[in-house]
Amino acid sequence: MEKIKVKSSKNYEVLIGGGLLGNCGEIIRNTCDGDIAVIVSDDNVYPLYGADLTAELERNGYKVECYIFPHGETSKNTENLVDLLRFLAQRGVSRSDVICTLGGGVTGDFGALAAGLYNRGIKLAAIPTSLLAMVDSSVGGKTGVDLPEGKNLVGMFYQPDVVICDYELLQTLPPEFLSDGMAEVIKYGVIAGKKLFELLENTVDNPASCFDDNTLAEKIIAECISIKRDIVGEDEFDKGCRQLLNFGHTVAHGIEQRSGYTVFHGNAVAAGMVSVSRAYAAMGKCDGEIPDRVESLVKKFGLISELPFTVEELALAAVHDKKRTGESITVVVPEKIGHCVLEKIPVCDIIKYIGVKK
Ligand code: GLY
Repeated sequence: MEKIKVKSSKNYEVLIGGGLLGNCGEIIRNTCDGDIAVIVSDDNVYPLYGADLTAELERNGYKVECYIFPHGETSKNTENLVDLLRFLAQRGVSRSDVICTLGGGVTGDFGALAAGLYNRGIKLAAIPTSLLAMVDSSVGGKTGVDLPEGKNLVGMFYQPDVVICDYELLQTLPPEFLSDGMAEVIKYGVIAGKKLFELLENTVDNPASCFDDNTLAEKIIAECISIKRDIVGEDEFDKGCRQLLNFGHTVAHGIEQRSGYTVFHGNAVAAGMVSVSRAYAAMGKCDGEIPDRVESLVKKFGLISELPFTVEELALAAVHDKKRTGESITVVVPEKIGHCVLEKIPVCDIIKYIGVKK
């Protein structure tokens, strides 16, 4: 098992190992007092692991309540948020009690926001079940729900008390979601993990092959989380270097929104990374080999590499993105594999940075 300590406004550990779900009651009890544990999960994941988690929590002295919601990004809305907050109030949950999120990125973002808001903050244990949530969204304290006007527009930074990444849970993840998570793994390679990128290029054949092999699964997940730990340790509140984690994301959020969230986050990030790399290479801002190397990894892991919308359409979405500050927007430029820099550009130039016009 790997243990990574994250230092931020709340210090906590991320545990990475196979079979951790079978021991998670004790792990949660070690960091969270309280009488009630509320499992927040969706109707896909709860039937798979809800009973095991409930039994573990009960064995460790918690009264367990379960809040199950319909799976999918469209559930990450303010109506469901208020419904969950009222559920907590109606069950007498207090500040010392704990929310356990069991699921992917939607569940984590949604449950963590409720944990941060309810009673001005209660305990939070994150048990990510998707690759994307393990390597990215469960660590670093970004929480949120969507508005019709955009993704994650209602949110706060709220760090968990513990994160439990049991990669055996990935065995039930549909292959397309494993691929989807690989986009964030590739992103870590580009922004700060040259060795990780080369490992993906040279050793790994497909997403399933890395997560069948426990040693490789632990290595890949731990490497991504270590990169995130370093970045969040330096810039918890996303004012500076944390924005490196947004490589490909301005375009991705536009794709997700325009597609009505039918293109999943990882696929949108994959197409975004390829497109912006081509644009930067055309401007002479990045190594000429980067776009092809990123594209071939994206294709190897079954992700989309072409933008499903025009650069004009995506430029319009970027102008409305929450990452914009006033008349400028910060973009992430991959100078070399493993080294990216931030560049502030005028909003009116965004189109040049999104992709090369066909
Ligand atoms: N997923 C980007 C971040 O945590 O900042």
